Amino acid sequence: MISKDSPIGIFDSGVGGISVLRVLKHDMPNENYIFYGDSINAPYGDKTDERIREMSDSSIRFLFEHGAKAIVIACNTATSAAATYLREKYPEAIIVAMEPAVKPAVSHSDSDHPKVLVLATKSTIHGERLHHLIGRFSENAEIYPVAAPGIVPLVEAGKENSTEILSYLKELLNPFRKVSDGGEGHIVDSVVLGCTHFPFVMNKIREALSYDVTFYDGAYGTSRETKRRLEKAGLLNNSDIPGKTEIYSTAAGDDPTALAWRLLELPFDYSPEQ
Ligand code: DGL
Repeated sequence: MISKDSPIGIFDSGVGGISVLRVLKHDMPNENYIFYGDSINAPYGDKTDERIREMSDSSIRFLFEHGAKAIVIACNTATSAAATYLREKYPEAIIVAMEPAVKPAVSHSDSDHPKVLVLATKSTIHGERLHHLIGRFSENAEIYPVAAPGIVPLVEAGKENSTEILSYLKELLNPFRKVSDGGEGHIVDSVVLGCTHFPFVMNKIREALSYDVTFYDGAYGTSRETKRRLEKAGLLNNSDIPGKTEIYSTAAGDDPTALAWRLLELPFDYSPEQ
């Protein structure tokens, strides 16, 4: 039986979902959490929708078996390829998903027609969901969707702060770098982090662009929605003691959850206005 004390279950293709877990923990510190990172199968972003649905289904089943009262799909790729399927398959469950933060990037901008760079995995960039989302805002903004398939493997290897990631980003983002830096000069106002691994390389994206941009991360909206859904279902934990977090990972090695814990403990700049 699920109750207010049951954990919120979160899954991702790997450690990216930790960037969502840290926002959830900040917003609802007294909840219990169970995180499942399917690192052995990362990246999901290069796989077929059918394969992403199968892997997401097996993650969700793991979380239900561990008593989750709600599920957070902390993965834009799994949301794009599998959220509709999972909601149809588990109609009674609370399933909250991600949405790349295009709406706040357009509506919070000071500019009348902001230039917004949307970074995500190949699967998300080519998926219908993002296509529709961009269509809703394309009259009011210049939106540039760019697939960044090289980020996830480097974050999964614990290289989120490396020179390797910086050179990859400089090359990928060359069209958006200043001409004086050797780029093509399409300067953007904001960057939407459309994959949950990407908040861990936010500083490197800033360094690669080398000018001021505002970042938008869908984790904040997902966390607010999770709280709203739990409240509505009478399942919000009202205990006044801090909750517990458990992390499971399919990563290989002696200590498969070490990277996830390290990323969870990194200081981060909480920006709820997104
Ligand atoms: N963290 C994931 C996302 O938000 C997926 C990355 C991947 O495995 O390709 O899209």
